[in-house]
Amino acid sequence: MAKLAIIGGTGLTRLDELKVERREMVKTPFGAPSCPLVFGTVNDVPIVFLSRHGNRQSIPAHMVNYCANIWALHSVGVERVIAVGVVGAIDDECKVGNIVVPDQIIDYTVGRNSSFEGNDFEGVSYTDFSYPYNDALRQSIIKAGERASVSIIDHGTYGASSGPRLETVAEIHRMERDGCSIVGMSGMPEASLARELSLDYACCAVVVNPAAGKGDGPIDIEQWKSATVSGMASAQSLLQETLASI
Ligand code: HPA
Repeated sequence: MAKLAIIGGTGLTRLDELKVERREMVKTPFGAPSCPLVFGTVNDVPIVFLSRHGNRQSIPAHMVNYCANIWALHSVGVERVIAVGVVGAIDDECKVGNIVVPDQIIDYTVGRNSSFEGNDFEGVSYTDFSYPYNDALRQSIIKAGERASVSIIDHGTYGASSGPRLETVAEIHRMERDGCSIVGMSGMPEASLARELSLDYACCAVVVNPAAGKGDGPIDIEQWKSATVSGMASAQSLLQETLASI
């Protein structure tokens, strides 16, 4: 049984090196996950792959059923999750093409179903989330990045915004004052749901644009798309190297 899952974000609907064994649409008490889970191996390492935005990338970040996705992975025995997503850069240290492995997160999302709690009558339990990302998994990714010659930034605070619209300059200034180094739309509640089910969770955030007000003029969506293609190629190398070591 595979214990490790990769959640692919925008631009990552499949892993080139994944030898697919089977696909399974898992039912959950929270509805359907974004698509069938794909079971297989990468260099003989068993993994489960899930495309967060669906196989056709038709589910935007604010419509993703995060509860169903995380529940489905947990229900098939997954214990560790590496989540990949695209982000905008707030901190000057983060450049387009870098992959940030954040160590903190701030949740600015609204209106998302963000907890498994409240679905039974046994009382609420509280989950520690002081350190949202699993450090052992983070370090495996960071070390793999060195070996794969991928430009990794080994720290940072992920600002999770609701989307689907991009932020205003004032919103990015606020996030910067709060200490965010990157901004993306899918970081929460995925990370906290994983914690509620005691899954080790780490994020590879691929920088595809300077955030609002951080570049020259408005955000260039064409540039974003091409940066996503090249960024996901780097993410694939990083994942392959990471899987070889864990
Ligand atoms: N803002 C929010 N989400 C994003 C961005 C951004 O600038 N870039 C990629 N995902």
